[in-house]
Amino acid sequence: IYHTPELTPTGKTPDCAIVVDVLRATSTIATVLASGGEAVQVFSDLEQLIAVSEKWPPEKRLRAGERGGAKVAGFELGNSPLDCTREVVEGRRLFISTTNGTRALQRIEHSPSVLAAALINRAAVVQYLLDKQPETVWIVGSGWEGTFSLEDTVCAGAIAHSLAEKSQFSQDELAGNDEVISAIALYSHWQNDLLGLFHQASHGKRLLRLESHEDLKYCAQTDILDVLPIQQELGVLKSQ
Ligand code: MLT
Repeated sequence: IYHTPELTPTGKTPDCAIVVDVLRATSTIATVLASGGEAVQVFSDLEQLIAVSEKWPPEKRLRAGERGGAKVAGFELGNSPLDCTREVVEGRRLFISTTNGTRALQRIEHSPSVLAAALINRAAVVQYLLDKQPETVWIVGSGWEGTFSLEDTVCAGAIAHSLAEKSQFSQDELAGNDEVISAIALYSHWQNDLLGLFHQASHGKRLLRLESHEDLKYCAQTDILDVLPIQQELGVLKSQ
């Protein structure tokens, strides 16, 4: 298994793409599916989301939209995983568009397998890699409008660190590039205070200004949900 995280994919596709947007899109997607949501369908474009979701029975759908960290007016949900309780999402499809996370998912959607990963479901993602052993794996950090982000990089490091521990490969053998080595180092340094790291991250600070402290706390937990969001058809993720 090789890890090649690509912050800006270039048209090539890996055997397995793991998209990470810890704050908060992939944390939300994992939570929806763990709470009994039927599926999560992702969109980069709000107009397209509205057009597709309108064909769905109203009692079977939910619309979630975030721009700049804030909820899109007129949608039932923003992008807070804490709003995605079983009472709200069970049996429904979540149609979601966010600033970066859903765009990253769409950019890499033609890979043979596409997963959504966050810290909260890291163990399920690592187990998938151990079971399937895909030859090329990219961990795609969503970042913020094309830039590096601490929270996605630390999650990439958490995945690679756990994979090295559980497989017969050393961290050196797993690391396809320098980004993986630095991601593992970041995780090793902060693994006992991930919330502290989020407080230093630029998007963490943005969310704190929007009074989303509870979201940060929730997203900073590791391995709490046994759920693997995996793309079943273009743009549609279901729990495996
Ligand atoms: C994104 O997709 O950029 C994020 O999930 C933003 C957010 O925290 O809502």
